[in-house]
Amino acid sequence: MMKAAVLNHLDGTFQIEEIEIDEPRGREVLVEVKASGLCHSDLHFAEQDFGVPLPAVLGHELAGIVVAIGPEVREFSIGDHVVGSLIQFCGHCPACIGGRTYQCFHPEETLRGDHDHDHPHRLTRSGAGVSQVFGTGAFAERALVHENQLAIVPKEMPFAQASLLGCGTITGAGAAINTASVRPGETVAVIGIGGVGLNVISGAKLAGAARIIAVDRQPQKEVLARKFGATDFIDASKVDSVAKIRELTGGGVDHAFEVVGLKATSEQAIQMARKGGGAYLIGVHSPTSTIDLNVTIDLLTRQVDVRGVYMGSTNIKNDIPLYASLYLQGKLNLDDLISKEISLADINEAYTELKGGSIARSVITTF
Ligand SMILES: NC(=O)c1ccc[n+]([C@@H]2O[C@H](COP(=O)([O-])OP(=O)(O)OC[C@H]3O[C@@H](n4cnc5c(N)ncnc54)[C@H](O)[C@@H]3O)[C@@H](O)[C@H]2O)c1
Ligand SMILES: [Zn+2]
Ligand SMILES: [Zn+2]
Repeated sequence: MMKAAVLNHLDGTFQIEEIEIDEPRGREVLVEVKASGLCHSDLHFAEQDFGVPLPAVLGHELAGIVVAIGPEVREFSIGDHVVGSLIQFCGHCPACIGGRTYQCFHPEETLRGDHDHDHPHRLTRSGAGVSQVFGTGAFAERALVHENQLAIVPKEMPFAQASLLGCGTITGAGAAINTASVRPGETVAVIGIGGVGLNVISGAKLAGAARIIAVDRQPQKEVLARKFGATDFIDASKVDSVAKIRELTGGGVDHAFEVVGLKATSEQAIQMARKGGGAYLIGVHSPTSTIDLNVTIDLLTRQVDVRGVYMGSTNIKNDIPLYASLYLQGKLNLDDLISKEISLADINEAYTELKGGSIARSVITTF
């Protein structure tokens, strides 16, 4: 038995309940969760129908300690400090072999299949299955995760900071470094300065961007954005951000990142890119949302590359230890991402605050 924040209805709130978690089988690792970050994606999944059967346990930014391993686990030992991620990969399909695990053809291989009749569910409540969303289910005291979804981090890494590597950092910094391949001297715009957007700024700075323009409708995000390396800030609640960026850069930025998940801001990102530049759509939209793309003007004449970004095109086994080492060397700011450390029971209150747009990340550190 363990305590978990369970989603019972698509109303954006969680109930703290006792549920059962199975023993590790095959290549599964049982992690005692020490820190679990509150990403906005979990809130989207708790409010809108993405096809996940309820009840469900969400949470995918986790750091913790390995407490048990399945008989086929090769990479982990009891006592290892690990960070988990929602990227699921098989390790043997053409995409995985090609080094693009984030494009795996068979991500479901990391889950228990319907064929496993004896033990189909990692999580149960009174014997009935509970969905473990993203294969992580980290809003809980323990998480049972396939070893491909975990990476080892040094024991000096504090758990709260480590948990953010699992999504906010790999997605944000990875979008700048891997997906967009930002080059020294280039110009970047970031729309949405939350837990993920701040990491886009970090990635752009690490890659040597000359100008990083942060855009948010919450003016208090300016101080935070500048701490991470933004050179300019635009308050989108007052100013036409597209016109302002074109004015500041003489026509548009090399790379524009949308990190909100709205039609308007996604279209703005495409408008902010210079001729031949790139627009990277990171924000998760509602399942029925679409955006308008003017093929003649945006794609043909202005030649803007419009790219959907999944988890910053990250190979977690390389990149999570890399970001941990950059943090330990003082080259990656994770400390200022943590607005608050909270207990599992505070999750609903913390998500209400996130919706207000004033905070970066709340991290559950007491279970
Ligand atoms: N593609 C991926 O792989 C991936 C991974 C992680 C998160 N996400 C998504 O990224 C998005 C951001 O996540 P987060 O955890 O950083 O969220 P967050 O709530 O911390 O940040 C969102 C920010 O956007 C700002 N904002 C809202 N409306 C705006 C507008 N109209 N103009 C400018 N700024 C606006 C808010 O003030 C806030 O600062 C979410 O949609 C999340 O689901 C995607
Ligand atoms: Zn996330
Ligand atoms: Zn694969």
